[in-house]
Amino acid sequence: MRAEPFTRAKSQSSAASWRKSSASIVCSSNSKGVQLQETSVTKEDRQRLLHQEGCIVWLTGLSGAGKSTVAFTVDQILTSRGKLTYVLDGDNIRRGLCKDLGFSAADRQENIRRIGEVATLFADAGLITLVSFISPYKRDREIVRQMVPPGHFIEVFMNVPLEVCELRDPKGLYKLARAGVIKGFTGIDDPYEKPERPEISLQHVNEKGDPVSPDQMAWTVIRYLSDKGFLSG
Ligand code: ADX
Repeated sequence: MRAEPFTRAKSQSSAASWRKSSASIVCSSNSKGVQLQETSVTKEDRQRLLHQEGCIVWLTGLSGAGKSTVAFTVDQILTSRGKLTYVLDGDNIRRGLCKDLGFSAADRQENIRRIGEVATLFADAGLITLVSFISPYKRDREIVRQMVPPGHFIEVFMNVPLEVCELRDPKGLYKLARAGVIKGFTGIDDPYEKPERPEISLQHVNEKGDPVSPDQMAWTVIRYLSDKGFLSG
């Protein structure tokens, strides 16, 4: 598809958006009287612009299961193919937006609520949004699923057993948890609720017992996105 010259497209769309927005400001208030502002630029407009459809790819699993590695590998491959992606990663987000939160059930719930809100905005903006958080509670993940249109929340279960994660122990945290230095560590003395019907389940070995590389896992995710039409618009 040939793009219109930028200046012309811009002035047309501003005019159109002005007409639309002045005619169609729809307000619905919440209990605090805060009104929802409607925009005349639709998700479909952004989809046409980006040649992709925004969605949330939600990687869940134990610490050390490889969530971040797979998320950043998908990010890198898709970016190199001209797709707009972004990774929201637990360790990174906990240094900023969620730095006030710990690891109690209530704090983990609030962590996932915040990141669910952010991921929903990113997906609405048209990005392939990769989220890598332990997100140990089913209910918290399901709440995020309900925030986006059906099919747009793609749960990816990093189905790697605790023994393997503990052996990897990339940050030395399992050792500290076993020694009782860290309390409430997921998989040791804090729960992890496995997804029942994830869209994608990734294992660290195949049926023959051979290791599966992060690249292979990333391509499983990318093939899913492509088959479902998220990589075209
Ligand atoms: S979540 O449970 O709230 O989803 P999140 O993904 O943000 O967790 O953060 C997990 C990261 O925090 C782990 O990769 C690990 O590096 C670190 N961490 C520190 N303490 C804990 C703990 N008690 N349980 C799990 N992870 C912890």
